[in-house]
Amino acid sequence: MDKLIRIDNLYKSFYDGDTELQILKGVNLNVHKSEMLAIMGASGVGKSTLLHIIGTLDRPTGGNIFYEDEDITVFSERELTQFRNDAIGFVFQFHQLLPEFTALENVAMSRLIRNKKNAADKDGNRYSSDAYENAEILLENVGLSERLEHFPSQLSGGERQRVAIARALINQPKVVLADEPTGNIDDKTSEAVLDVLQDINERLNQTFIIVTHDSRLSKRANRTVHLVDGKIAD
Ligand SMILES: Nc1ncnc2c1ncn2[C@@H]1O[C@H](COP(=O)(O)OP(=O)(O)OP(=O)(O)O)[C@@H](O)[C@H]1O
Ligand SMILES: [Mg+2]
Repeated sequence: MDKLIRIDNLYKSFYDGDTELQILKGVNLNVHKSEMLAIMGASGVGKSTLLHIIGTLDRPTGGNIFYEDEDITVFSERELTQFRNDAIGFVFQFHQLLPEFTALENVAMSRLIRNKKNAADKDGNRYSSDAYENAEILLENVGLSERLEHFPSQLSGGERQRVAIARALINQPKVVLADEPTGNIDDKTSEAVLDVLQDINERLNQTFIIVTHDSRLSKRANRTVHLVDGKIAD
């Protein structure tokens, strides 16, 4: 299988005053293209920390992360921002949709911004946009074609989470990182969200890394790894 991400001997410490808190202590992990990988582990073990570092939202204390053989740990802040916008989609436990925008606008937003920036780079202020068209297709993909003009407050918890999934897909990322995507919704609603994740994975070959406590999610994943005492357990 083609390798998408290689995590090599990753370390992360936090400092509490002078006290060093070692969280990640030599994580080694490969992620393959098109796979749905679940990461499980006890509360406080460092799952979110690891996901943030994979997503370039935080930097490791040591070790390297390669995306298709490119070492992102040597990137500047500017390069990281660009890389994150182009290559990574995020789904969090709390969906973090913008309340004053519709489902369609929430999904289209980052692509609108990107198109505008790319167009401005090329030919000044003129730009055309496929953002709404793509957002509509993605909302159809997650079963929300009837909810395009709804605001987040007019959607159920599971629907909001599905909008968040569509939003994560809008720039065709190399990988979608999800931190407990079913952590904040009930069992039945979770099943609908899991259906969508699995469907997107299988039909669009989208690579996912999902941190979860939910054994039903790990059952649907292609592979589950466990983070134990700062390392991926054998
Ligand atoms: N910015 C930070 N500064 C200091 N300590 C931190 C910081 N972020 C995380 N930690 C500590 O690192 C440890 C791991 O946190 P993390 O959020 O990664 O755990 P987790 O495995 O995601 O737990 P949970 O399952 O409860 O979400 C915790 O002890 C936490 O207090
Ligand atoms: Mg966490």
